[in-house]
Amino acid sequence: MSLIQDIDYGTPASKAEKQVTLTIDGVEVTVPEGTSIMRAAMEVGNQIPKLCATDMLDAFGSCRLCLIEIEGRNGTPASCTTPVAEGMVVKTMTERLKQLRKGVMELYISEHPLDCLTCSANGDCELQDMAGAVGLRDVRYGYDGQRHPNPGIDASNPYFTYEPSKCIVCSRCVRACEEVQGTFALTIAGRGFDSVVSPSMEQPFFDSECVSCGACVQACPTATLNEKSVIEIGTPSRAIVTTCAYCGVGCAFKAEMRGDELVRMVPYKDGKANRGHSCVKGRFAFGYATHKDRILNPMIREKITDPWREVSWDEAINYAASEFKRIQAKYGRSSVGGITSSRCTNEETFLVQKLIRAAFGNNNVDTCARVCHSPTGYGLKTTYGTSAGTQDFDSVEESNVMMIIGANPTDGHPVFASRMKTRLRDGAKLIILDPRRIDLVRTPHIEADYHLPLRPGTNVAVVTSLSHVIVTEGLVNEKFVRERCDWDEFQDWAEFVSQDRHSPEEVEKLSGVPADLIRGAARLYATGGNGAIYYGLGVTEHSQGSTTVMAIANLAMATGNIGRRGVGVNPLRGQNNVQGSCDMGSFPHEVSGYRHVSEDATRAMFEALWGRPLDEEPGLRIPNMMDAALDGSFKGIYIQGEDILQSDPNTQHMAAGLAAMECVVVQDLFLIETANYAHVFLPGSTFLEKNGTFTNAERRIQMVRKVMAPKNGYEDWEITCLLSNALGYPMHYDHPSEIMDEIAKLTPTFADVSFKKLDELGSVQWPCNAAAPEGTPIMHMNGFVRGKGKFVITEYVATDEKTGPRFPLLLTTGRILSQYNVGAQTRRTANVVWHEEDRLEIHPHDAEQRGVRDGDWVKLSSRAGETSLRALITERVAPGVVYTTFHHPSTQVNVVTTEFSDWATNCPEYKVTAVQVMPSNGPSEWQEEYEELTRQSRRIAEPLVAAE
Ligand code: SF4
Ligand code: SF4
Ligand code: SF4
Ligand code: FES
Repeated sequence: MSLIQDIDYGTPASKAEKQVTLTIDGVEVTVPEGTSIMRAAMEVGNQIPKLCATDMLDAFGSCRLCLIEIEGRNGTPASCTTPVAEGMVVKTMTERLKQLRKGVMELYISEHPLDCLTCSANGDCELQDMAGAVGLRDVRYGYDGQRHPNPGIDASNPYFTYEPSKCIVCSRCVRACEEVQGTFALTIAGRGFDSVVSPSMEQPFFDSECVSCGACVQACPTATLNEKSVIEIGTPSRAIVTTCAYCGVGCAFKAEMRGDELVRMVPYKDGKANRGHSCVKGRFAFGYATHKDRILNPMIREKITDPWREVSWDEAINYAASEFKRIQAKYGRSSVGGITSSRCTNEETFLVQKLIRAAFGNNNVDTCARVCHSPTGYGLKTTYGTSAGTQDFDSVEESNVMMIIGANPTDGHPVFASRMKTRLRDGAKLIILDPRRIDLVRTPHIEADYHLPLRPGTNVAVVTSLSHVIVTEGLVNEKFVRERCDWDEFQDWAEFVSQDRHSPEEVEKLSGVPADLIRGAARLYATGGNGAIYYGLGVTEHSQGSTTVMAIANLAMATGNIGRRGVGVNPLRGQNNVQGSCDMGSFPHEVSGYRHVSEDATRAMFEALWGRPLDEEPGLRIPNMMDAALDGSFKGIYIQGEDILQSDPNTQHMAAGLAAMECVVVQDLFLIETANYAHVFLPGSTFLEKNGTFTNAERRIQMVRKVMAPKNGYEDWEITCLLSNALGYPMHYDHPSEIMDEIAKLTPTFADVSFKKLDELGSVQWPCNAAAPEGTPIMHMNGFVRGKGKFVITEYVATDEKTGPRFPLLLTTGRILSQYNVGAQTRRTANVVWHEEDRLEIHPHDAEQRGVRDGDWVKLSSRAGETSLRALITERVAPGVVYTTFHHPSTQVNVVTTEFSDWATNCPEYKVTAVQVMPSNGPSEWQEEYEELTRQSRRIAEPLVAAE
């Protein structure tokens, strides 16, 4: 496969419906009104020379290279800034234009360093290309004139360099940072020859406001901004389109290769989730795939205190299978289970749950969605009939009001956050419900209209109070409710929310949110036009997570903000394939497509194809597996790509459960924390080494394509097949496309999905079946999936986790842009420079009361446990609230979180833990002991006979 060159049309596409016909160099062309002449010319294959224009950015008109002549008009206007007009006659290649362009290029080249042959961008430089395109052969002014400033190279960013001497001051980088990323980190400082791109206040990139998204690097037409990997390895020679393996945005990338080496990841312009943009993780943080910590050989050990012993694949697989068989023979069929991975592909996840249901013969399968978005599944299925978000990302372009609840998109879902910011700068209104002042509360050119800084744990009360205002002030969209929802249930609900106890004034007392903010936000959402709700784990990870999801669904129905573009209820899903892992049947009570295991017809369908009886009883959830392990009834587990010890709550309980098992099989890239308790380690493959699909937060199924051979020898799905075969349940597929064919056969919402279709269309959003052969961008357009929309009474019940004299503060947790989840991958990349450790954010008032200074070590304790970390004093958190991330195992913040969980789904209550913070001298005793345990557990025995 050759390098995939995106066509650059020079300016963005016009969305106008009216068409305009003109003639360019004698060829008639019809394009939408508002299209630039440059783009219209490109539509008929006529590439007008350009330097400052690119179709990711609005036209700027600074380089004067794209001049054209228009019949009946004087002068030579720039084609990038001149829109088409009906009947226009344009010439792009007259002798006068050729001379003018040569003149422009002469000026550029006369002040450019003449080191093309040794330049890292040689062969991949638009300045070089344009010199060729205009036929420049000589420079009349010589090469000894004044040069662009050369203050040296800024290599402060770990991933790219900035070399001002090569800059042509086209401003593409500045505009990319503004228009695409929305960070506004760059300006052009100085004038004339002295003008230079300046990050923030003429700082090095690393010290500036730059968030390392790389949009400027991608936009730069020269080597001024260039990836360090290109400088080190050379320019790429081939590219394969694949999908990011970090977050639920699901950015599509061109993996650009030189030989078998990955040179760079370039966001794919045709990617429908990201439209050519990315964040620092997807674009740059792929070094973990070749990190020295990666384990490439299978290993086993009898006891978890033994050193690991490297063995052949056969030995490892046979050992694991024989242990599972022994355990089931001794303790019963239900004594084993497994956990699927939201980092692995749909096909891999499907096979793990198939292995558990068909080979183990029980439903003891669960997934990490248990600890993040299981309440979304429950809440949206109950109210609307589908366990997924309602919109595509493009829909935000038509939103007039955005309500963000318990999500921090600029850190958690950065590429979608950039889309949101674009729309907000264009005038959409913004309401934020969050205990913290997240970046979107105030960021360049954006200020939230309402920020409701609610006390952690009061989501249900505040969202119900928004509904109170809407109902009592007559703002309900009655037409929508009568047509689309159950009217009787609505009336019961309306009576419930109208009660005085739900008024903003009453709710202010428990939530801390001023009543006028609740009233104002409710009125804006109900009356401001298209209202779209985006929410995150700040909604779900509570004892009332499912209730809040249903309260949100009620709010959208009551205002008619569902079932068309620009509106909807949208969970911002965490991991790259958490939507997919849920869709594939990773929960103990549901097979793929969210059908309950107790449904006879559903089971019969699976049994006919799989040739094994399925258990009609739901299996164990992760916390129940650990309880059962401690009871002695659950003895073996197969964990694919999931570090439950670090990511799940109440670490001690998890550790005790794992330690009580007789066979823990971990399949992963690294010896993760859970592997401290494993008996068999099966090395996994990275997303670069496998074929398959991921499903993002929009329900968009996208291809993951293998760009290099698996370093461990197998793709993850192949390992599951080996294990299943050894267990005596044959599984054979020649290619993951065959697994998708099986998924399609068994899952009505995937009935028309195939690799062939995905190759043809790029991606599809499920449901994709006979009724919607090209997928479903917006759900519930002509009625809810469940029939009538269901209003649910959402009684607020305060969490049992209460502050008091011993634990007076509330801890809430989250993540930051540069790190990902438990950090197993991002900690093994240069991203650590931005986040070397988890810090505890604490308000200055609370810090002062405790004598804590910025950077001091503090002990964070709850009734579940304690840990130590360093303090970060900030007003981002309100007094009484502290916040931290959970990216580093040395902190193990989940030692502190409790066993409380969502009443419906057991999703842990990560967002509310009563804690105390006191000064400390450094890491606590157990942290030091844990480091020693980890060191011991990671010992690998020397081979008995040294390899030749
Ligand atoms: S990397 Fe992104 S944030 Fe940083 S300057 Fe470039 S465009 Fe702006
Ligand atoms: S750094 Fe690159 S994109 Fe920015 S102004 Fe200079 S040449 Fe243009
Ligand atoms: S981490 Fe998320 S936002 Fe960043 S590139 Fe990957 S999919 Fe896109
Ligand atoms: S490309 Fe049109 S002025 Fe630069």
